[in-house]
Amino acid sequence: MNLNASLTIALSKGRIFEQTLPLLAHAGVEPLEDPETSRKLILETTNPRVKFVIIRASDVPTYVQYGAADLGVAGKDVLLEHGGEGLYEPLDLEIARCRLMVAGLPDSRPPSSRRLRIATKYVHCAERYFAAKGQQVEIIKLYGSMELAPLVGLADQIVDLVESGNTLKANGLVPLEHIADISSRLVVNKASWKMKHEAVTGLLELLREAVGGE
Ligand code: PRP
Repeated sequence: MNLNASLTIALSKGRIFEQTLPLLAHAGVEPLEDPETSRKLILETTNPRVKFVIIRASDVPTYVQYGAADLGVAGKDVLLEHGGEGLYEPLDLEIARCRLMVAGLPDSRPPSSRRLRIATKYVHCAERYFAAKGQQVEIIKLYGSMELAPLVGLADQIVDLVESGNTLKANGLVPLEHIADISSRLVVNKASWKMKHEAVTGLLELLREAVGGE
C-alpha cells in the first residue's frame, strides 16, 4: 500500500489486537515488535508511514476522537458507551463477536420496595436501555468481575458482555435480556477522513477486502 500521508492506528492489546493483525497484514501493515512482550506504546510497522499506538480498549474512541490517532479498532460495546462523537465507523471487522446482555440469578424477583439495582461498567448503555423500556433502575458502576455483584447482594442484575456464556454459568447466573450484538469496528477521526482521505480510504478498502475474505 502506497500512502501519501502518515497514519496512526489505535489498538488495544489482547483479543482485538490478535484478531486485527491478519486483517492489517492483508493491507501490508505488520508491527515490528510484539506488544505482548514489548513495553513500547508506539510501535513502528512494516509500512514506514503507519504506526500503532497501544492503549486500553476503552480509550481507543477518545484517542481517535481527539485526532491523537487517525484510526482505531474498538468494540461496539466501547463505542456505544463512548457515544461515537467525532468518529466515523465505516467498517464492521466482524471479530471479537459477543452480546451485551442483562443477566442475573435464575430465580431473582424484582424488589418491590426499591429500584432494581444494575451493576455494570457500561453505565450509559444500561441507562439508555432501561430508560427506553421506561424502567427506573439504580446503576452501580463497576470496573470488572460484574458476575460477582448479584452473588454477594451488591446488585440484582448485571449488564455485561456474554460470549460463550461460560462465565455466567460458572457463577450460577443466566442471560435475561439481549441489549446489542457486539463486534469490533474500524473507527476514523472525522478530520483525518477529510484531510487524509486517500490514505484512509485506501487502507479501509484493503481491510474491507480482508474482512470479506477476498
Ligand atoms: C468478558 C465479560 C465476561 C466474559 C464473558 O470479560 O466481561 O466476564 O468475558 O465471556 P464468556 O461468556 O465467554 O464467559 P473479560 O474476560 O474480557 O474481562 P473484563 O472483565 O476485563 O471485560
